[in-house]
Amino acid sequence: MAERQETAQGLLINHFYAGHEHGDIQIDRTAGLYVEVFAGHPWFEFHDPDEVKQQITDFFGRSSANMYLVENDGEVKGFAWGYLRDTAELVENKFNESNDTKIAEQVVSKLGQGNVFYINEIGVNSKLRGKGLGKLLMGKLLGDAERLEVPSALSTRVDTVLTPICLKLGFEQIFGQEVVVGVNGKINLTGRIIVGQKR
Ligand SMILES: CC(C)(COP(=O)(O)OP(=O)(O)OC[C@H]1O[C@@H](n2cnc3c(N)ncnc32)[C@H](O)[C@@H]1OP(=O)(O)O)[C@@H](O)C(=O)NCCC(=O)NCCS
Repeated sequence: MAERQETAQGLLINHFYAGHEHGDIQIDRTAGLYVEVFAGHPWFEFHDPDEVKQQITDFFGRSSANMYLVENDGEVKGFAWGYLRDTAELVENKFNESNDTKIAEQVVSKLGQGNVFYINEIGVNSKLRGKGLGKLLMGKLLGDAERLEVPSALSTRVDTVLTPICLKLGFEQIFGQEVVVGVNGKINLTGRIIVGQKR
């Protein structure tokens, strides 16, 4: 069983973490919501539900995995998950197209060497946005980072609603913006940034 909490709107927030029985996670429905959320603005991405399910399963192979699902009447309405990740490895992974080895050094010098709590994914069903669920989910993951005594960090596009939410929550822009060459050969400004909390 997951640890559960009920919100003022009567929604359930279920907490799943590694080493804890997570057989009751609705992986199919979580993957379904993930596909739907990232097909929308500003991402317009295509994700294969089976690949997302595999990513979630792999995620639980990490000892620091923490996931929160918002559920209502058996439906998954929101998700957020994070885990401990080496800062330099995170930067190399996220900025590999830019081929600039100095970036990792710059970010590490701001966040510190070693691990950060990496906020990997967050999304809320489009019909339930603007009701505080995103902030609530972020608060849960920030609580995990605090328990683990590491800074939090995430990498996202500067034009997501999440960027101002993070800045309001005390994150600062650590690095950005990223320029990548798209598959069409055109230069695309994704505005990807890394935000993090210093400790
Ligand atoms: C990012 C996301 C999870 C936010 O969820 P949410 O439940 O709508 O967020 P909240 O209701 O908690 O809003 C938090 C703050 O953002 C503001 N906000 C929410 N939606 C907004 C919008 N479209 N435009 C401007 N501000 C917005 C709210 O007013 C609130 O600010 P306040 O605390 O000053 O009132 C949701 O928009 C989403 O799923 N987006 C698509 C997926 C995505 O981009 N994920 C992040 C990248 S991994």
